[in-house]
Amino acid sequence: DIYPTAKDGSRAVAQEIAALIKERQAANKQVVLGLATGSTPKYLYAELVRLHKEEGLSFKNVLTFNLDEYYPIEPDALQSYNRFMKEQLFNHIDIPAGNYFVPDGTLPKEKVKEYTAEYERRIEAAGGIDLQILGIGTNGHIGFNEPGSTLTSHTRLVTLDHNTRQANAFEFSNISQVPRLAITMGLSTIFKAKRIVLLAWGTHKAKIVRRSVEGHSSDQVPASLLQQHPDCKFVIDEQAAEEL
Ligand code: GLP
Repeated sequence: DIYPTAKDGSRAVAQEIAALIKERQAANKQVVLGLATGSTPKYLYAELVRLHKEEGLSFKNVLTFNLDEYYPIEPDALQSYNRFMKEQLFNHIDIPAGNYFVPDGTLPKEKVKEYTAEYERRIEAAGGIDLQILGIGTNGHIGFNEPGSTLTSHTRLVTLDHNTRQANAFEFSNISQVPRLAITMGLSTIFKAKRIVLLAWGTHKAKIVRRSVEGHSSDQVPASLLQQHPDCKFVIDEQAAEEL
């Protein structure tokens, strides 16, 4: 779906999420959301906060799992995705404290494998992700699944590509401060979501949006693998649609 601006697209997705939450509330059921970080979903979270504050949308029946986190990183570090999610969303809504999960970037390395397997099990125990929100890296990564990640990959520790570290360096004092590793949901984890919505805004995303939507479905562009998912859509603004 193409919208005039990022705000318009974000509002539409927020409405979709709100409708899903209400539908489940009416049936006394939980809803499981997969969430993303980065600059892309900021408007979406702002709109969800607005719906909570101004229209009384409740998140009491919502469970969330975030895609990724740097490793290692302290949860209160400025660049931490744990901190980002609290600041952008969780601190401003009524989601119960035990209902949101963001990968932990503080574990000792020998504990990470067990932890990521547990993260995966937790998602399954919750009944799987109903709706997964994604952003896209300029190299086509989703979460931190860099080019070459396979469709069978699980939640795991990965090495960041140099260009991802470069792209994210603005958040840190310089590139040497950007962690070399990250914990990310795998492509198989993401693919198990019943529904996927990928967001992309701005001309700097136009090229990778085209390669993902119109190019071959290949692990060299992880987002292009989404062509194989039964219920996935891209919600983009006119600038990101420029090359389609
Ligand atoms: C980051 C995140 C991704 C995100 C992407 C795009 O590195 N790990 O989950 O989708 O890169 O970031 P942005 O939304 O700031 O363009």
